[in-house]
Amino acid sequence: MRFDVLTLFPQIFGGYLTQSLLAKAIERHLVDVQLHDIRDWAKGKHKKVDDRPFGGGPGMVMMVEPVVECVEAVQAMAQPPGRLIQLTPQGRRLDQSVVEELCREARLILLCGRYEGFDERVSEILKPDAISIGDYVLNGGEVAAMVVIDAVIRHVPGVLGDEESAKQDSFSGDERQLEWAQYTRPREFRGHAVPEVLIGGNHEQIAAWRAEQGRKRTEKRKGEMKNDEL
Ligand code: ADE
Repeated sequence: MRFDVLTLFPQIFGGYLTQSLLAKAIERHLVDVQLHDIRDWAKGKHKKVDDRPFGGGPGMVMMVEPVVECVEAVQAMAQPPGRLIQLTPQGRRLDQSVVEELCREARLILLCGRYEGFDERVSEILKPDAISIGDYVLNGGEVAAMVVIDAVIRHVPGVLGDEESAKQDSFSGDERQLEWAQYTRPREFRGHAVPEVLIGGNHEQIAAWRAEQGRKRTEKRKGEMKNDEL
């Protein structure tokens, strides 16, 4: 699966791309992440990418021209042109069902904004799929793009060592339950013991205990959530 990230700050991704699961997936050619600096498509001596908003107001707005030209050029760099995603607090909320939808694409183009956002004509012309990672405002879309990549690559075949892991993740599967409690050694720490059932080696009992745990956690979490999150 290929990701193209369009950003004014490609260096933000440096550490993330070279560590852990993603680094291994890239090395094994299961995932490809290409970074593109939107400023490379800016015109003029000063390579301007943002300007003051028409009508006044605080902050700067990302200009339509370099953004649209950057997206079009990146789309043309490889086949298929891919699904264009704009990271913005105004988008639809990312959740596990959106992640499962995105992982079916062969290529995602992730457009990250900075400042007060994009000139609205970026959306009018490119019609991106606008995605938000939550109802709060980040300084830019870069961290949100990393969140999308991180969640999506778990579903790319071969990326996780154990193919079952992504299916067992919280929110996955038809029931969209939370995952059960996990324990590892030692068996006891500061008076907190590992539940006996997990040590007994009876796989049916373990599966039943885990299913019940997941159900309980999901119910508790639903009780904690505000109505609009349900
Ligand atoms: N850019 C700024 N805030 C964001 C958010 N909450 N989600 C996605 N992109 C963003």
